[in-house]
Amino acid sequence: MRSRTGREGMRGLGTAALAGALAFCLAGAARAVDEPTYVGASTCIACHSDKAEQFKQSMHGKRLPVVKGIDFEKSCETCHGPGSLHAAAAGDRSNPGFATIIDPLKLPPAEQSKFCLNCHKQQEVMYWNIGPHAANGLSCLTCHSVHQGHGPRNLKVENSNEYLAETETCLKCHKTKKLGMNLPSHHPVMEGKMSCASCHNPHGGESGNIRAGSVPELCGKCHAEKLGPFAYEHPPVTENCLNCHDPHGSINDRMLKQALPFLCLQCHKFPHTGTVNNANAYTSSALLLQRGRCVNCHREIHGSDRHMRFIPH
Ligand code: HEC
Ligand code: HEC
Ligand code: HEC
Ligand code: HEC
Ligand code: HEC
Ligand code: HEC
Ligand code: HEC
Ligand code: HEC
Ligand code: HEC
Ligand code: HEC
Repeated sequence: MRSRTGREGMRGLGTAALAGALAFCLAGAARAVDEPTYVGASTCIACHSDKAEQFKQSMHGKRLPVVKGIDFEKSCETCHGPGSLHAAAAGDRSNPGFATIIDPLKLPPAEQSKFCLNCHKQQEVMYWNIGPHAANGLSCLTCHSVHQGHGPRNLKVENSNEYLAETETCLKCHKTKKLGMNLPSHHPVMEGKMSCASCHNPHGGESGNIRAGSVPELCGKCHAEKLGPFAYEHPPVTENCLNCHDPHGSINDRMLKQALPFLCLQCHKFPHTGTVNNANAYTSSALLLQRGRCVNCHREIHGSDRHMRFIPH
């Protein structure tokens, strides 16, 4: 059994490789004999008036002439390649000329992306090459469309609120994150006031796709007052906000990963027993009553310029 599977596997591989090589040779031969040339958008319009109209309304249709100096007449073939043989085939798929037009959707994902990256070289997007989305077989066309793009970002998902369009794009795959965003304490993402892309770069990032070099730096962009630096730092805060918070939502107040006091007791197993002062404090009935609400006293829990125990006076 085992050896049969093995041999079949080998044979399958051999045939595929051979077919690939053949297709490559044939394409090469066809081109050498008859190279397609540029014919201009006015030729394409005759058969693709719908695509051409759509294109005129799209972000690329409006911006290519301005930003790249590519006017409408030249636009189609900038992306689809020279179209004389395709046009001459007049829609007959059995004519070898038909397939000389480039259909981006038929390219393998990595080729689709390379095609877009020819023009889009800003750092935000170039992270693509090192991101998890590229590594998992997504392409630019998973989320964007040139002809059917909606809104300024050419997203396939349509929503008049651009933040919601972005978030819905992500939730097509990351479905479990939607549950979190509906828990009692959450970032206002489903409310359309920010989006997954406020924190994540969909194209990839230096770490975990986030829009910053580290988690505290990311959170600090909107919550600067929590970041410090402080005269008295609380080490878990400077290390990683996610020691205590879940930015995707929580059943606990303030998106805490655990309810108080359990959150604190994970790391401070026996608080108020360490020093003489605290031994007194421990026996005080007032404190016993309040112990559960650690932040009633340790109010500057993210760090303090006033007190080493984060207790403001
Ligand atoms: C004489 C008519 C005709 C002309 C001219 C023409 N096309 Fe097409 N094209 C077709 C037809 C028919 C199809 C198949 C449409 C379908 O299956 O829905 C097609 C398909 C395509 C496809 C998809 C390819 C595929 O494999 O399905 C692209 C991309 C395309 N055309 C681009 C162009 C561009 C760009 C031009 C101008 C350079 C152009 N066409 C000119 C008739 C034409
Ligand atoms: C900026 C690059 C770009 C330009 C310019 C462009 N297209 Fe496209 N075209 C694409 C991409 C990418 C797709 C795949 C679907 C999508 O993104 O909407 C596509 C899809 C198509 C298809 C359908 C292919 C299919 O399989 O459904 C046709 C037909 C087509 N384009 C024709 C045109 C015509 C005609 C023009 C000029 C008026 C044009 N395109 C300009 C990138 C471009
Ligand atoms: C020929 C060059 C060219 C190609 C190829 C191209 N684009 Fe563009 N794209 C542009 C230009 C120019 C703009 C307008 C940028 C501006 O206004 O500054 C643009 C705009 C965009 C925007 C909106 C950017 C913004 O600032 O909101 C997105 C998203 C986008 N393109 C995605 C794609 C994708 C996906 C592909 C591949 C299917 C692609 N582009 C292929 C040139 C290109
Ligand atoms: C997982 C979905 C997804 C994929 C895949 C994706 N994008 Fe985007 N893209 C977005 C979203 C959402 C935005 C808007 C938020 C933002 O600016 O990052 C965006 C924004 C952009 C912008 C505007 C960025 C700016 O800084 O103004 C460009 C250009 C762009 N994408 C091009 C691309 C290209 C090129 C690829 C493929 C290499 C690609 N995108 C792949 C979702 C995606
Ligand atoms: C077509 C499906 C798909 C879409 C759409 C999609 N993702 Fe992903 N995403 C994946 C896959 C697959 C992975 C890699 C496996 C994993 O970590 O789950 C991934 C990984 C991630 C990661 C983990 C990075 C890491 O290093 O662990 C983040 C963050 C992420 N995506 C954010 C987003 C955001 C934000 C959007 C919307 C702009 C989005 N994704 C849209 C499929 C998708
Ligand atoms: C307030 C900022 C913020 C928002 C909004 C946000 N995330 Fe995240 N997300 C993070 C941080 C921080 C991490 C951890 C990154 C790391 O470990 O380096 C993360 C991790 C992830 C991961 C990988 C690890 C995991 O938990 O599975 C995925 C996937 C992800 N986010 C998807 C999403 C999606 C989808 C949305 C929108 C529904 C979203 N995020 C909204 C900050 C955010
Ligand atoms: C793009 C801006 C932005 C980023 C980045 C951001 N937040 Fe927020 N955060 C908000 C907004 C907006 C609110 C809601 C404020 C309100 O409702 O008054 C919020 C609220 C919160 C709250 C309070 C929730 C409550 O129940 O009161 C916590 C805790 C929080 N964020 C933690 C984080 C953490 C941890 C990070 C980093 C992983 C982060 N935030 C990144 C914008 C951001
Ligand atoms: C040691 C645990 C811990 C860490 C680590 C931590 N926090 Fe908090 N955070 C808390 C607690 C506890 C509260 C609730 C305080 C209260 O209810 O008075 C809170 C509340 C918040 C709030 C909402 C309350 C407000 O004052 O607006 C924000 C925003 C916040 N944290 C952001 C951050 C950011 C940003 C980081 C990382 C730089 C971070 N936190 C790291 C424990 C932590
Ligand atoms: C992830 C672990 C962790 C969590 C969770 C945590 N802390 Fe801390 N905390 C530390 C570390 C590490 C120090 C530095 C001093 C030490 O090693 O005890 C510290 C210091 C302190 C100090 C100063 C005490 C001293 O000895 O200097 C106080 C007060 C404190 N934490 C209160 C809290 C409270 C209240 C909470 C819950 C809201 C909390 N901590 C959650 C790790 C944590
Ligand atoms: C009623 C106010 C109050 C409450 C509530 C409170 N503390 Fe304290 N805590 C103090 C005081 C006062 C000190 C001693 C300050 C000093 O010695 O400088 C202290 C000291 C500490 C210290 C450092 C010394 C030691 O003995 O470990 C830690 C850690 C600490 N508290 C954690 C906690 C945690 C965790 C909780 C919740 C379970 C909590 N505190 C609740 C007032 C309080």
